[in-house]
This record gives sequence, C-alpha cells and structure tokens, in this order.
Amino acid sequence: MSGVFNPDAVLAKYPQSLPRYTSYPPANHFQPTGGRDLQKAFIAAVDAAYAVSAYIHIPYCDRLCWFCGCHTKQTLRYDPVRAYVSSLIDEIALWKSRLTRRPRLSRLHLGGGSPSLLQPDDLKRLRTALDSAFAIDDGTEISIELDPSDIKEGSIAALLAFGMTRASIGVQDFDPAVQAAINRPQGFDITRDLVLQLRAAGLKSINIDALYGLPLQTMERLQKTIAQVIEIGPDRIALFGYAHVPWLKTHQKMIRDEDLPGSRERYQQARLAAKMIADAGYEALGIDHFALPSDSLAIAANEGRLNRNFQGYTDDQAEILLPLGPSSIGRFADGYVQNEPATGQYNAKVAAGEIPFTRGIALTADDKMRGWVIERLMCDYAFCFTELAERFGHRSQGLVELAERIAHEDRDGFCEVSDGLFKIEPAAWPFARIIASRFDAWLELAPRQYSKAV
Ligand SMILES: C[S@@+](CC[C@H](N)C(=O)[O-])C[C@H]1O[C@@H](n2cnc3c(N)ncnc32)[C@H](O)[C@@H]1O
Ligand code: SF4
Repeated sequence: MSGVFNPDAVLAKYPQSLPRYTSYPPANHFQPTGGRDLQKAFIAAVDAAYAVSAYIHIPYCDRLCWFCGCHTKQTLRYDPVRAYVSSLIDEIALWKSRLTRRPRLSRLHLGGGSPSLLQPDDLKRLRTALDSAFAIDDGTEISIELDPSDIKEGSIAALLAFGMTRASIGVQDFDPAVQAAINRPQGFDITRDLVLQLRAAGLKSINIDALYGLPLQTMERLQKTIAQVIEIGPDRIALFGYAHVPWLKTHQKMIRDEDLPGSRERYQQARLAAKMIADAGYEALGIDHFALPSDSLAIAANEGRLNRNFQGYTDDQAEILLPLGPSSIGRFADGYVQNEPATGQYNAKVAAGEIPFTRGIALTADDKMRGWVIERLMCDYAFCFTELAERFGHRSQGLVELAERIAHEDRDGFCEVSDGLFKIEPAAWPFARIIASRFDAWLELAPRQYSKAV
C-alpha cells in the first residue's frame, strides 16, 4: 500500500461532508423533546455521581472572526456579558437546589465564544457560585479558552485566582494576508508574550489552536505559522481543518470561495503541519491533537485512556458532563442533553427556575455499541473485538461482521483486521472520519450537513 493517498480520488469516492464524531449520534440528531424526556434521569445520574465534569459556554466575543464556527455573538458593550454571568450563576444555583449532595468537580472547561472576555469581578462571583454547588479541590483541572487580544492588565491574575490550571490559546494563522481574509488580526508578539506571562505565573499546561484550509493559506504561509507556534513552545497543539459551513454560519460568506484551498491542498497542508509538529517532538493524538510526551494527554493516549468529547480529546474519565450556558451539551451513560441555544431564551428559562434543556437523545444499546467503536477509531485508530464483546456481549457480533466486511471489501488500503483487531493504516489516519462513518447507522438520515471530511 502506498504511504500517501490521492485526496481527490478518495473524496470523489466517499462523502465529502461527515460528522466530527465528538458525540454519537452527532448533535444534529438530538430531538426537541429528548432533553425534557431525559431531564429526570440526568439529574438523578448527577446526584448519584461522586464526581462530574462541567462545561461552561460563554456565548460572547468582542470581535467576530469570519471563519468562526463557534456559537457566539459579537458585543462591544460589556453589560450583556455581565447579565449573562448572572444567569449562569442562577443556573448553577438551580443545579444546587436539585442535588442532595455536593459532587466533586473533576474537570471544568470554559469555552465559547471568548471566556477571556470575563472581567475579574465576574470570574470571582462565578467561582463563588461553583464552590457552593460543587467540591473543587487541587485535583480539579480547570481549562479556559483565551483570545490573546482580550488580555489586559490584571486578566492573568484574575484567571489564576479563578483556578485556571490549563489555558487554550487561539492562534489560527499568523500570516497578515490570511488574518485579513478571516478578520482576525493577531500579532505573533502578543501571543508569545501571553504564553511567557502565563509560564512566569506558574501555569503548567498551555495549548495552542492552529488551522489549515484557511483562505489564502499557502504551504509557505502555513509552514511559517507552524514554525512560530512551535517556537512559542506550547505543551499541546490542536490542528483543525477549517470547517466552511456558510449555510450554518452566515458570516463565513465574507470568505471568498475562490480564496479557499481545495481538497488536495488541504490534505497537503494537514500533512505538512502534522509532520513539522511531530518532528518538533510532539506526539500525534487522535485526528487533530498533538502533545509533548510529558503531557498528561500524551501519557493517557499511550495508556489507551484517550477519550473524545465536545472539546475534542480528553483524558477525563468522568462519565457525566454537566452542561452550563446556552447551547452546551451534557453527557451521561444513557444519553445526551443540550441547553437552549438562544441566549435570550436561555436567560428567560433560567429566570423562570427551569433547567434549560431543550434537546437531547436517549441512547439505544446499538447507539452505545457503535458510539464506543467510533470513539475508539477516532482516538486509537483501532478497536479490539474481545473488548467489544466484553462490553456489549453477544450483540456485538453484528459489528464484528461489519468490521470484517469493511476490511475485506477495502480496495483503498485504509484498514485491516488482524489478531482480533480492526485497524486503520497509519497513512489513512487523515481519513479516520470516513472509516468511522462506515459504523454510523445515523449517517444516511442527515447527509450534507457536515464539514469536509479531510
Ligand atoms: C472558542 S474558539 C477559541 C477561543 C477564542 N475565542 C479565540 O478565538 O481565540 C475555539 C477554537 O475553535 C476553532 N474554530 C473556530 N471556528 C472554526 C472553524 N470554522 N473550523 C475549524 N475550527 C474552528 C479555532 O481554532 C478556535 O481557536
Ligand atoms: S474564533 Fe474565537 S474570538 Fe473569533 S469569533 Fe470565534 S469564538 Fe470569537
């Protein structure tokens, strides 16, 4: 088998747009009634758990980058953000009133939007609310997404006082022409200086997000950006392919189609960036993450403990993810729930004393089994038939037969079955979503809603 695939040939043959598999079934299959139906079961599961993780969504930014696929709104005034933090505090109080115990918080992630927009006094009252509902200790990992352009005097001290143990910094691309095409000016110096300040303040873990497939991005421009990211020296690098979905995110129409690299260029960019990052000593984890060997995510991957969730990859072992804020998605053993996405309606529901779930899905036994297979493929590029049978019993036989059929019919050299293991070949790792999708029973129900598979 050749070590390099022709992406044009692969993408001509397989669906161009596929889920990112941060959940199975993907969130577009959640049902309006699902959240309400699962509400009681979800609350009971949180109440019974010793530890839970939580995700807090901050749906505001003080700028609007044209590439952005996140659930956010630009605001140049701080008042709506302050009012929103009050709703968040009310939502946390609602959870407190529903629980008979104070669960330990295993992980907390603040994403957005831009959590770095929060002013010190709002971070302080948010932390006080969290402390009253959950036990937060030295082992609780608190990660926060930072936009360097938000960082002002006092910001870092306030984030550390909140308890931040890990920062994730958005870079995307440092080239001025690319930055102009995505409306995101951001100097190399302010990014590097932020990392230096965070390190000087004692922060041990820093991630940087970079993108390929952006408008006007060339191999030379990307190469320079990745070299600069490596020079900054983060512990982790997330390398995402730009998801161009202007039918969902209308501001992406500001990006001209003719400026976007094609599938072949995207594939070559992904390979170039991944090679540079690996050559600099980072280990590749799953489809889009890299970490220094000493980093806890790399250690987890080597021990087979890497999991996939809505934030990408994690070594978090908590079964329950509590969603806080509009559009946040929660997970428990029996299903997914999602909060109301519109911030105004979310605020209104919380003010009325309602847990603001609006959508969700209860998992069938088949969903759980396929979800496990897809998660292992997205994390380890392989799954073991014996482990599948140990987890799901005789029902798993159908999926073993499907895996054997996929490997037998594979004319691309993507995968093989040997010694009871279904494996994706290393050269086909960039196409992991294509192979995972062969195990997706929901796919045909919602074609063409997703981003490019490579
Ligand atoms: C919420 S933002 C990060 C925090 C902060 N708002 C910032 O931009 O620096 C999360 C990350 O999602 C990624 N992202 C956003 N839109 C994307 C898209 N359309 N395709 C791929 N990745 C995207 C970017 O790498 C971005 O850093
Ligand atoms: S990329 Fe970050 S700063 Fe830019 S609009 Fe999206 S969430 Fe906001």
